[in-house]
Amino acid sequence: MIHQPTILLVEPTHYDVSYSINPWMDPGLWASDPRGMHRNAVRAFESLRSALRAAGFAVEVAPGTLGQPDMVFPANAAVVLDGHAVLARFRYPERAGEEAPFARIFEGLRERGLIDSVSLLPEGCYQEGAGDCIWDAVRGHFWAGFGPRSSRAAADVMASEFGREVVALELATEQSYHLDVCFCPLSGGEILYYAPAFTPQALCTLRERVPASLRIEASEDDLRHFSVNAVNLHDQVVMTRTTPHLRAELGQRGYQLREVDLSPFMLSGGGAYCMTLRLDRSSAARQAAGSSGGAAQAAVAA
Ligand code: ARG
Repeated sequence: MIHQPTILLVEPTHYDVSYSINPWMDPGLWASDPRGMHRNAVRAFESLRSALRAAGFAVEVAPGTLGQPDMVFPANAAVVLDGHAVLARFRYPERAGEEAPFARIFEGLRERGLIDSVSLLPEGCYQEGAGDCIWDAVRGHFWAGFGPRSSRAAADVMASEFGREVVALELATEQSYHLDVCFCPLSGGEILYYAPAFTPQALCTLRERVPASLRIEASEDDLRHFSVNAVNLHDQVVMTRTTPHLRAELGQRGYQLREVDLSPFMLSGGGAYCMTLRLDRSSAARQAAGSSGGAAQAAVAA
């Protein structure tokens, strides 16, 4: 496995919005100017790649596949920790065709030594990758979203695959169809989250485990900007063009925001985190968060 912070992206060559499997997707708007939309998507992808590099990541870019437009969201391809990858199983037939090309991409990463091993989920168990199973480097466990896409049982599969605790959170709305739309752990131990996305029981779990000083409540506007869907490394946060609220809140806590216009991908229901997959996550690299939280206290890589 690799130890340098490394992100997998997928080329937007075959990206479009041609079906709708979440309430943000707008194939009609895309169809009003497909060439212009595609041009903007390619430009947005390049800006994201630059922002990720500037934030300190090495970036691997895999090819997309014709007819599988949502492959640009590799956060859904697999869960990766300690060099081991568990490949996703998609709930909707529209995305199930990504499983074979992603399996080939992961085989290639294994041959190159970027990851060590790959495994599959049991039959009938849906799990949509790191979008629904997010590593918390400060607490040393996964947070798993379930309901709209991933199965509840997937949390237990991940716990046995990786030998780490997995805290399951039920998602209550189609708007937050993956956990990463409404939930983001940061290097200082803060959790940025949108409370109405969760069932009362999930909120209880979250609030039991995360003290109030480390909880950052996102507004509906923050959610609509897809800014909760952020990529964090130390004090760097790569995200969509965000709101004054989050700019102030994260700025005060010592984070440096790198905002990228990702509107062509928001049209498919995705932001910065969805478009990335961390390949180097390690359960050994526990991060020390200060009692008051904040990027300044983050000692080790997120
Ligand atoms: N159109 C894609 C879908 O509905 C967007 C996926 C965004 N990825 C994510 N991790 N939230 O599946």
